[in-house]
Amino acid sequence: MQLFLDTTDTAVLRTLAATGLVDGVTTNPTLIAKSGRPMVEVIAEICGLVEGAVSAEVAATDVQGMLAEGRRLAAVAANVVVKLPLTPEGLVATRQFALEGIQTNVTLCFSAPQAMLAAKAGATYVSPFVGRLDDIGEDGIQLVHDIRAIYDNYAFDTQILAASIRSADHVQAAAIAGADCCTLPPAVFEALFKHPLTEKGLEQFLSDWAKTGQSIL
Ligand code: E4P
Repeated sequence: MQLFLDTTDTAVLRTLAATGLVDGVTTNPTLIAKSGRPMVEVIAEICGLVEGAVSAEVAATDVQGMLAEGRRLAAVAANVVVKLPLTPEGLVATRQFALEGIQTNVTLCFSAPQAMLAAKAGATYVSPFVGRLDDIGEDGIQLVHDIRAIYDNYAFDTQILAASIRSADHVQAAAIAGADCCTLPPAVFEALFKHPLTEKGLEQFLSDWAKTGQSIL
């Protein structure tokens, strides 16, 4: 399971990337707006912080606009993945980028048939939005299971990038469902390390160790 960070906060990213456990980054127009920085500048900085895939989303909604913006973003760094919405225009652009050898992440996927279309268009990644489906009373993780089954049935090589993740439980469920990658807000990434028994156990071990008066070095 590849773990991506869903953020444009480069300070946080720098800290978490130092764990060696961050495989990539996803961004979206909302996160770019939140950064308050020019998009190309922030994407370039992020690409220098992580070696893996960095998704940068187009803002155009027509095919020619998406192609122009996507090519501009792809020129920023070799690890940029052009993120496109799951619309007919977005899938036409996805197909063209596949022919050009530019990696794509088809976003705003809310159904298995949509994911099937993204794979047929040659998407590198598809992003099912787990949390937003849960928000409306549907089962976001079931969608990941369904996409996994369809992709395996037809040997599609599009990677499933579980997005809109809200908790460590979501990450666990997405991994069990066979997602290839999961993109997490920094707080969820940090939560993956934690368990109350780990903290309690360490406290006890350190306390007992101190009583021995020993030093390992
Ligand atoms: C990532 O690619 C998505 O844009 C992101 O995970 C959406 O998350 P949200 O539903 O919390 O905004």
